Amino acid sequence: MNNTNWLKYYNLIILDETDSTNNEAKKLAANNPSGNFVISTQHQTNGRGRYGKSWESLEGNLYFSILLDSETFITKQTDLSFVSALSVYNAIRVTRLYSKLDFDISLKWPNDVLIDGAKVSGILLESVRVHNRQKLIIGIGINVLASPNLDTQYQTTSIFKSTQKHYTTSYILNIVMSSFMHYYKLWETKGFLYIRHLWLKKAYHQDKMILVNDGTNKISGIFQDVDTHGAMRIKLASGEIHTISVGEIFFIE
Ligand code: BTN
Repeated sequence: MNNTNWLKYYNLIILDETDSTNNEAKKLAANNPSGNFVISTQHQTNGRGRYGKSWESLEGNLYFSILLDSETFITKQTDLSFVSALSVYNAIRVTRLYSKLDFDISLKWPNDVLIDGAKVSGILLESVRVHNRQKLIIGIGINVLASPNLDTQYQTTSIFKSTQKHYTTSYILNIVMSSFMHYYKLWETKGFLYIRHLWLKKAYHQDKMILVNDGTNKISGIFQDVDTHGAMRIKLASGEIHTISVGEIFFIE
């Protein structure tokens, strides 16, 4: 599978090196270009992750940002984050298929992709307003070859580690973008509820105990599901259902 049809709908910019493809997308957006873009590189000097963390740039991994130009995104950012995570999931599923190996791929709210519970990809959504138009930037990092040591409690892994196969970053980019077009179409035609349904089928640790840091408090509870707006619902010890729109999840079981 190496479908490059998506290149008809996205302008691809490949950079040898940049500070961050999300920053490049912001700079590009400021010129208000028409159409959608993908900015890709193999070297970021200042890659950014969620919660102000940095995203390490290791040789052989994929770093890219999708710049979408549309008025409809203002309230739909969360939807697109689920669409993006499903697309990365599918790319890794394809590599699993070819490897004939058996490993688990799952999705961690809101938009991480895990292999056997370890992080293989992260997604950073940002939006910019240019001349009264809202543009959405979806920054995606995928550990194709190497797994960085995140500062954290998380384990990390790479596609190489799981498949024992060396994939080029352009090969993975093609599958993610073809998948993105597929899920984007599903989102447009069937709506977020359908995307949510697909996401939940692959959700990590559903019905299990988790700890959420929402920036102010740390709350533990049983991960129930995500609601119709993409917020996570957890059941507290009191039995009450608590909804979280923004937060970092830790697994404690
Ligand atoms: C996370 O913290 O999980 C999100 C990581 C997002 C990293 C990607 S790499 C491409 C794009 N450019 C950046 O600076 N960040 C995103």
